[in-house]
Amino acid sequence: MKILAIETSCDETAAAVVEDGTNVLSNVIASSRAAFEQSGGVIPEEAARQQLKCILPVIHQALDEAKLLPDDLDMLAVTKGPGLLGSLLVGTTAAKMLSHLWKKPLVGVHHTLGHLSSTWLEGEGEDAPMFPLLTLSASGGHTDLWLRTSHTKGHLLSRTRDDAAGEAFDKGAALLGLPYPGGPAIAKAAEGGRRDAFSFPLPLKNEPTLDFSFSGLKTALRYTLRDLPRGPVPLHDLAASYEHAIALHLVDRCVRAVKKFPQIQEVHLVGGVSANLHLREEVSFALPRVQLRFPRKISYCTDNAAMIGAAAAFFVSEAGPTQACHPFETSASLPLAEAVQY
Ligand code: KG4
Ligand code: ZN
Repeated sequence: MKILAIETSCDETAAAVVEDGTNVLSNVIASSRAAFEQSGGVIPEEAARQQLKCILPVIHQALDEAKLLPDDLDMLAVTKGPGLLGSLLVGTTAAKMLSHLWKKPLVGVHHTLGHLSSTWLEGEGEDAPMFPLLTLSASGGHTDLWLRTSHTKGHLLSRTRDDAAGEAFDKGAALLGLPYPGGPAIAKAAEGGRRDAFSFPLPLKNEPTLDFSFSGLKTALRYTLRDLPRGPVPLHDLAASYEHAIALHLVDRCVRAVKKFPQIQEVHLVGGVSANLHLREEVSFALPRVQLRFPRKISYCTDNAAMIGAAAAFFVSEAGPTQACHPFETSASLPLAEAVQY
């Protein structure tokens, strides 16, 4: 089954063709990110304007690179939410129009189900992940821990009580005078820095919970900067210690969950923050005997359309085409219960 997928939930305009949920025939992204480097975050109206310019060329490029014509497609898929409303509307309107013109069914996909499906991309047959599995989904908008028994069924074990992990990187970068997005900028600044130069608290350390909390780390960084002695700011050490603190909190929750639910077969890390190499090292160190998986390419960690194509295929196979292709509304605040039934 060949699906043309579209993802426009934030500042990226993305289209991809994915076969059977795993085989990526093309994956195209146009990003307006450079426009926001100095602003500390995405400006929604500007992101939507850029989406409008890019959407049709990106879709055509995805078809060209896959060497397919619209008639070769079985289905279309698009992110229906959550995200920035203007950006989402560009993608969903284009998808609804093309579905009508090309007479192909259309699946509305929850953005989070896309991230949860990203570890299947480019994976083949025998090595397919095994349920039940734990997925840490950490990006700029959410930080969630899922225990799933299938692609679309399971439990949301916990989420963040305040900032998302990606937000902790983005806000921390702004404090350090680094550009947006903060994750890659902090990771680069951390090169050569000492992880133990500054000590940050481990959030919710003594509470018996799987919840996340990042706002205290950001505040601790602000106070650390305020209290520095006069002289040059030790940027590398600060970035390395702060990155380490975020990673340790994420890893601590995964370790707790694995202990609490012995049925877990695998642990997956997805979302923009799963691109972080230090986080990957720390989780591998903390869970040496667990099958760990990350998206196979860094471009599958951050927002992309291939993951939406994968999610659509799994949604259709588990819910059936009638339910999966049901008409949908575009929603900036789509509840998580619509990603996975729990
Ligand atoms: O999944 P994503 O592309 O978009 C959302 O759904 O939010 O995630 C973007 C987030 C940003 O906060 C960015 O700083 C973070 O992911 N990020 C990273 C890295 N690359 C992106 N965080 C840490 N290390 C990275 N290498
Ligand atoms: Zn995302």
